[in-house]
Amino acid sequence: MLIAQISDLHVVAPGSTPTTAYDTNARLAAAVAHLNALDPRPDLVLITGDLINGPKPGEYEALAEILAPLAIPYRVLAGNHDDRDGLRRSFAGTGWMPMANEDIQGDFIQYAVEEFPVRVLMLDSVVAGSPVGALCERRLAWTAERLAEQPERPTIIALHHPPFDTGLAFLDTLRCVEGAEELGRLVRSSPNVLAVLSGHTHRQTALNWNGAYGYVAPSIAYQIALDLTPEPPYRWTEEPSALALHLYRPGAGLITHLSPIGGYPAKDFSRKARNS
Ligand SMILES: [Fe+2]
Repeated sequence: MLIAQISDLHVVAPGSTPTTAYDTNARLAAAVAHLNALDPRPDLVLITGDLINGPKPGEYEALAEILAPLAIPYRVLAGNHDDRDGLRRSFAGTGWMPMANEDIQGDFIQYAVEEFPVRVLMLDSVVAGSPVGALCERRLAWTAERLAEQPERPTIIALHHPPFDTGLAFLDTLRCVEGAEELGRLVRSSPNVLAVLSGHTHRQTALNWNGAYGYVAPSIAYQIALDLTPEPPYRWTEEPSALALHLYRPGAGLITHLSPIGGYPAKDFSRKARNS
């Protein structure tokens, strides 16, 4: 199974100014074309939050238009820039967006993706009005219940805010802190959890976390500058948009490749280079 992960799309309403020099809507359109052209084509695309930049009127409509040509099944979760009602409205006709909170009290958008060899638990780490993430008791209890249902099945947990430090000091202050330790305990006691996939930092990071693979996807909209100093300025860079390709091999877990979006064609080596 091949899973593509795209994150932090930050789509704006037509005529609005994006946060950086980049046209984020055009970048998402390029990502959609890139995904459709991949060979082999991914089985599933996970969109790990911040689908829009606001929330502001017109953004989810613009998002729907740009995602319409995507020819691969996809699932979304909420980021701190999203609006849960807007997300529900946008994906109301898909059949997979939970419209009522039947199995979780509160306004959270949490659901399990069951249709593929790897099960994905989509968590909602959003705290309304805050850039910082959290998992409250109800969201954690839902996660524990879902994990208990299928303890043998390869499972990915996806949430917008990383529940772990990335070493990017400023961004680590905005991660999921409340509930992270409890989630870590669930992961540690669930050997079938392959990975915990996040977004939010706009910078690829990979680590080992509680016996599973922790991963933060780069952003489609723009990348945050790599700076591992203790008090880095918060800056973006001109590095390209990229997506992650997670290849699942039974027994081997997830193997992640970065796929930058743009014109990077493969070239044949010259005979001279081949012989060297
Ligand atoms: Fe973001």
